[in-house]
Amino acid sequence: MDKLIVKGRKRLAGEVNISGAKNAVVAIIPAAIMAEGASVVENLPCIEDVSCLCKIIEKIGGTCQYIDRHTLKIDATGPLDTCATFDEVRKMRASYYFLGALLARYKKAEVSLPGGCNFGVRPIDLHLKGFRALGATVIEGDGVVKVYADKLVGTSIYMDQVSVGATINIMLAATMAEGITTIENAAKEPHVVDTANYLNMMGAQIKGAGTDVIRIRGVEKLHGAQYAIIPDQIEAGTYMIAAAITGGDVLVKNIIPKHMDSLTAKLEEMGIQIEEGDDSIRVCANHPLHGVNVKTMSYPGFPTDLHPQIVALLSVCDGISKITENVWENRFQYVEQLCKLGAKIQVDGRVATMEGIEKYHGAKVSATDLRAGAAMVIAALAAEGETEIDGVRYIDRGYEDIEEKLGALGADIHRIHVAD
Ligand code: EPZ
Repeated sequence: MDKLIVKGRKRLAGEVNISGAKNAVVAIIPAAIMAEGASVVENLPCIEDVSCLCKIIEKIGGTCQYIDRHTLKIDATGPLDTCATFDEVRKMRASYYFLGALLARYKKAEVSLPGGCNFGVRPIDLHLKGFRALGATVIEGDGVVKVYADKLVGTSIYMDQVSVGATINIMLAATMAEGITTIENAAKEPHVVDTANYLNMMGAQIKGAGTDVIRIRGVEKLHGAQYAIIPDQIEAGTYMIAAAITGGDVLVKNIIPKHMDSLTAKLEEMGIQIEEGDDSIRVCANHPLHGVNVKTMSYPGFPTDLHPQIVALLSVCDGISKITENVWENRFQYVEQLCKLGAKIQVDGRVATMEGIEKYHGAKVSATDLRAGAAMVIAALAAEGETEIDGVRYIDRGYEDIEEKLGALGADIHRIHVAD
C-alpha cells in the first residue's frame, strides 16, 4: 500500500481548488440508476470511491463513460440486475444507497452489507426501518440485505436519530413510492440537499431538503439529468486546517463558504484570520494559536468528519482543548497515531483532552481511516523532521491529488508506491 513522505515545517501559501463532494457523489451516482436514461455528472472528484461505484453500476448492467477527468456519463437505461453482492459492494459503506435506488425503480434489491471505515459499529437499522415503513419486506442475513415490495406507499417517518445515510436512502426509495412521504428529524447536511436537487432535476418532487422535514411526492418515472456536484465541505475544511497549522496564508477556492461556518467560527476563536469571498475562504495564521473546545454535531454543527483534523491542530495550540464526539461511538483510533508524533491526548469515553505541545516530531504513522489519514498529513506538515504515513489507500478514498495540491502550496510531500 502506498506511503506518503512529508518533511514538515514548511509554511503553506497560495491557492487550492476544492473538488466535488465525496459524500454527495457516493449518493448521486447510485441515484443515477433510478432513471431510464443517461445522466451527466460534473465536478466529480477523482477518488477511489467513484471508481468503485462505477464498477458496481457496470456489473449490474449500466454504463459509465468518462467525458473528462471530472465529468461522467452514467447510462442506466437498463434493465439492470437488482442483485449487487460482489466484492466492490463490500468495499464501501455507501453501497447501501443501491438498496434505496433499486428498490425505488424495480421494487426489489439484494445488496451486500457495506464495509467502510473501521470506527465503531456502523448499523443500517434506520435505513431498513424506513424501507419497511414504505411497505417493503426486508430480510437480512449472511452479510446481504434483501428488500422487496409489491408497491411502495408514501408514509410519515420519524428518524429515531439524525442519520445522513438513512435520510438519503429513504429519500431515494420514497421518490418512486405512491403518494407522499414525510421524513422528520431528517439530516440537513449539504450532501443531503445536493442529492435531493439532483433527484428533482431527474423529475422527482422533493421539498424541504436541508431542513429537518423533507416531503417527497412519489413519481412513476425519472429521466436522466445533467448535474454538477457541490464542493467538498470536508476537503475544504482539511485544507483550511492545514493552512492554519503551518502558520500559512492560503486561499481555499471553489467552495460554498456557508458550509464552512462551524469550522470558520472555531478557527477565528483560535485566533486565525478568515476572509470570506463568494466562493472562497482565505485562511491566515501568523501568530500563536490558543486551544478551544469542540463538540461534533450533525449539520450545521461542527462536522464529525473534521474531528481528527481539528485535533491535530488543537494539539499544537496553547493551553488545554477538549473535543466531544457526539456522532460516532468511537472515532478515536487516530489518537494513538498522533501521539507517536508527540501529541499529548487523553481519551475518556466520548471526550478527548489535548494538552498543547510546542511542535510535533516526525515519525512513522498509519492512516486508520479516511479522516484519520488526513489528520496524519496535517500533523506531519507541522512536524520537525520527516514523517512516513502508510495506509494511504484510505486517504485516496476521499482526497483527490492530495500530494499535488499540498505540494503546490509549498509542502514537501511525495508518494512512495508500494505493491499491495
Ligand atoms: C455519513 O455516514 C458519511 N459518509 C460519514 O462520513 C459521516 O461521518 C456521517 O455521515 C456523519 O456525518 C457518507 O456520507 C458516505 P450517519 P453515515 O448515518 O450516513 C448511527 C467520511 O469520512 N446510525 O449519519 O453512515 C451511526 O452509527 C465518512 O466521509 C444508526 O444507528 O452516518 C452514527 O452513530 C465517515 N443506524 C450516527 O447514526 C443507522 O441505520 C450517524 O450516522 C444509521 C446510522
